Amino acid sequence: MRIGILGTGGMATTLGGAWVRAGHDVLVGGRDHAAAKATAERIGAAGHGTLADAAAYGEVVLAAVPAEVAPELVKGFADVLDGRTVIDCTNPIVPTDDGLTLSTGGTTSIARRMADAAPNAHVVKAFNLCHDSIWTLPRPAFEGAPLAVPFCGDDPGALDRTAALITSMGCTPIPCGGLARAVYVEATAALAIGAWLAGAEPRFAFPVPMAA
Ligand SMILES: NC(=O)c1ccc[n+]([C@@H]2O[C@H](COP(=O)([O-])OP(=O)(O)OC[C@H]3O[C@@H](n4cnc5c(N)ncnc54)[C@H](OP(=O)(O)O)[C@@H]3O)[C@@H](O)[C@H]2O)c1
Repeated sequence: MRIGILGTGGMATTLGGAWVRAGHDVLVGGRDHAAAKATAERIGAAGHGTLADAAAYGEVVLAAVPAEVAPELVKGFADVLDGRTVIDCTNPIVPTDDGLTLSTGGTTSIARRMADAAPNAHVVKAFNLCHDSIWTLPRPAFEGAPLAVPFCGDDPGALDRTAALITSMGCTPIPCGGLARAVYVEATAALAIGAWLAGAEPRFAFPVPMAA
């Protein structure tokens, strides 16, 4: 797959690197040319360029920028994103005295705001639940099971493409329904990351009934 990445930071580097290892053609785009070049070289990407270059590069575009920036950013590229799969890995989480909370208020999601900002793009929420370091593992697996990656969106083609991308990384896709459910995926991140930051192991909170 041809994948353009909006952003040059942690997620651009590790997810982009995982996709390069999986055989995809990745172009890293940033507002800072030197940062885009450095990230692309670090992961062996096919190329680097501006944010506009990344938006126009492939059938898949990853938004790896702060959550509060993502809707406005894709709005600027709404025309070029027409028909493309836009993956939103952002987490709109902010610290409070009571742990992490959602800057969206939990009644809508950043993914929904991105879809509203670029109405002809096919937005998929995915890859927001793991720390970026996990994507540096060649084929992430834990206790013998491949990492599972929840994702949701409304366009069947975009969902198929995302599932194929996840599978190509050696992971297991977990389809979670339509884009309306992105609000739950974002809330899950706030809960799980909050627990993790508080010293707990949230992954042990979800055993299947068959384990009983
Ligand atoms: N890091 C994680 O473990 C992790 C895990 C799950 C989800 N996420 C989510 O993934 C997203 C990216 O996280 P990250 O860790 O990669 O962040 P990061 O390392 O801070 O990188 C953010 C990138 O966004 C760019 N950016 C910031 N403001 C921008 C703007 N107004 N216009 C265009 N580009 C802008 C930055 O460019 P400059 O360098 O020029 O500022 C940088 O390239 C976030 O929404 C985060 O919540 C992160």
